[in-house]
Amino acid sequence: MSFDDWLAEQAAKRRDAGLERSLVSRAPDDDLVDLAGNDYLGLSRDSRVVAAASGAAHRWGAGAGASRLVTGTLGVHDQLEAALAVWVGTEAALVHSTGYHANLSAVTALADADTLIVSDAHVHASLVDACRLARGRVQVVPHLGVAEVEEALSERTESRALVITESIFSVLGDAAPLTELADVCARHGAVLVVDEAHGLGVAGDGGRGLVNATGLAGRPDVVVTLTLSKALGAQGGAVLASQAVVDHLVNRARPFIYDTGLAPAAAGAAHAALDVITLEPALVQRVNTVATALADTVGVDRPAGAVLSVPMPGPTEAVAAQAACAAEGIRVGCFRPPSVPDGISRLRLTASAGISDLDLARACDVLKTVLP
Ligand SMILES: Cc1ncc(COP(=O)(O)O)c(C=O)c1O
Repeated sequence: MSFDDWLAEQAAKRRDAGLERSLVSRAPDDDLVDLAGNDYLGLSRDSRVVAAASGAAHRWGAGAGASRLVTGTLGVHDQLEAALAVWVGTEAALVHSTGYHANLSAVTALADADTLIVSDAHVHASLVDACRLARGRVQVVPHLGVAEVEEALSERTESRALVITESIFSVLGDAAPLTELADVCARHGAVLVVDEAHGLGVAGDGGRGLVNATGLAGRPDVVVTLTLSKALGAQGGAVLASQAVVDHLVNRARPFIYDTGLAPAAAGAAHAALDVITLEPALVQRVNTVATALADTVGVDRPAGAVLSVPMPGPTEAVAAQAACAAEGIRVGCFRPPSVPDGISRLRLTASAGISDLDLARACDVLKTVLP
């Protein structure tokens, strides 16, 4: 089969299964109410954050110019790493060019061939890919299943183990039982890796996330990964852990070592966003208020963070509801099998502190009429 024929066949299969994806550009000034994005605190357009991005680019250049171990470590990275570690409460931090890279780094560098990796069934694709790349055996356990984690750890033949979870899950928006998982890990000599992509900025004291809120930040057997692209409104990712873990990653994590350093503008923006959150903790309260109003409107439990999951009768109804919302100026996310971890089609709504009271009221009115 020729390359062209193969591509056409692949495209036809996706079309027949109703799984075709396409990119839709967003205008800079569209007036849709965005309940689908991850700019949870509305900071990506905050003038202080944008000015910091521009200032960092002017000072350090448009790109870092090299990988971090060559000449691509800049003051703007050092400052951001120090600020992130202090904010969340860990000894050290290591900034990466994306959250995806941070997950690849943490899992692949911390698991060797003699490590069992126990992963919650709902973790993000970047953690799934990290497990695939890692050298250790991978065991996937049911979502939120603490007993199953304990069983896997106690029956393992490997001398080391890594347990992988998100703090707040990206599709269902539910929270992991972090305290119980950390206890199980401590009993079985395992390391707990927690992806705070959807916890940071929206959960815990002043938005410091659930690892901080549960008192686990700073524990040597707990490793946090995060993205700078959601609540912090920028781009990039980080691993927060002990200095020993960070030193190990600098020496062993290929997604860190063989990648150009985070762009200065993104690092500057993320640092400014941290400063804004610290100065204005009301932003974190606001995102929770918006999330609560949305949850009450659509009749689901109040979420642990900013993500609301609204189960729909089926894929057709989910797509139709998404289109009906869009026609009324409200952008919502729509997830259908096979992109949903539990096979249930759903709308995914996200709250943002950047939504005005007027837009929130409009969105709630539309959701009331559109949802079954
Ligand atoms: C849970 C989770 N982890 C990691 C990532 C990847 O982060 P980034 O977009 O910075 O690569 C995402 C989102 O995209 C995510 O939802």
